[in-house]
Amino acid sequence: MRKKWGILFSVLLALTVLAGCGQPESGASGNDVIKVATDAAYPPFEKQEGNGKITGFDIEVIEAIAKAEGMKVSVKHTGWDPLFEAIKRGKMDVGISAMTITDERKKQFDFSDPYFEAKQLILVPKDSKVKSLKDLKGKKIGVQSATTGAEVVKKAFGTTYPGLKGYDDTPGAIDDLANGRVDAVVADNGVVQDYVKRKLKGQFKTVEDQSFEPEHYGIIVKKGNKELLGKINSGLKKIKKDGTLEKIRNKYFGKE
Ligand code: ARG
Repeated sequence: MRKKWGILFSVLLALTVLAGCGQPESGASGNDVIKVATDAAYPPFEKQEGNGKITGFDIEVIEAIAKAEGMKVSVKHTGWDPLFEAIKRGKMDVGISAMTITDERKKQFDFSDPYFEAKQLILVPKDSKVKSLKDLKGKKIGVQSATTGAEVVKKAFGTTYPGLKGYDDTPGAIDDLANGRVDAVVADNGVVQDYVKRKLKGQFKTVEDQSFEPEHYGIIVKKGNKELLGKINSGLKKIKKDGTLEKIRNKYFGKE
């Protein structure tokens, strides 16, 4: 009896090892599947459908880029902070997540050419008197931690501003705005406008601020992964040229 189990175990072990050998190596060249990390809680750029499928503007962009280069993608929701870790450690190949190209991030990752222009935008309750960022002084402001939204608030009110509340994801901040725990949320315009349009219709409004500078989204790879970055930039160039990028943009944001 013992022996039988032993044999069965050995067979299973051998099968597992064999199956493992068939897995493609990461590194993404040729027909490889590139492993794409995203924080799929930032609609309409990336979101998770009820069935777990990840969709959105960014997902269509990276799929189109990969297709143009004869590659395939598999997209995984990692969350925001873990995304950076996963790229750094080489667990994932590419990060696309409405990510603004910043000097600070450029020190740690290699960015593709820009593929989308954005700006920060303030979300407040409909009856709020707030007209600009400085009107929020002394008030509670919700942001997703480690985003450019957090940066603009720190720039205006100091890095230790006590009213600044950081959240792991943006929906968390917006939920707290809906139930009055914060007075405003600062996040990317595309996302804030999407919330106002969809679920927060009538309840909230947006406020612009002159100090908010234009931002550009880029795709990241591990620092030094020139081969993959080259392909991404090449694919991006192609989808800019043949109108695919514009088509995806129009689908999500309408014609300008
Ligand atoms: N554009 C902003 C930044 O780079 C926010 C991006 C947040 N993206 C996300 N998928 N949660 O900091």
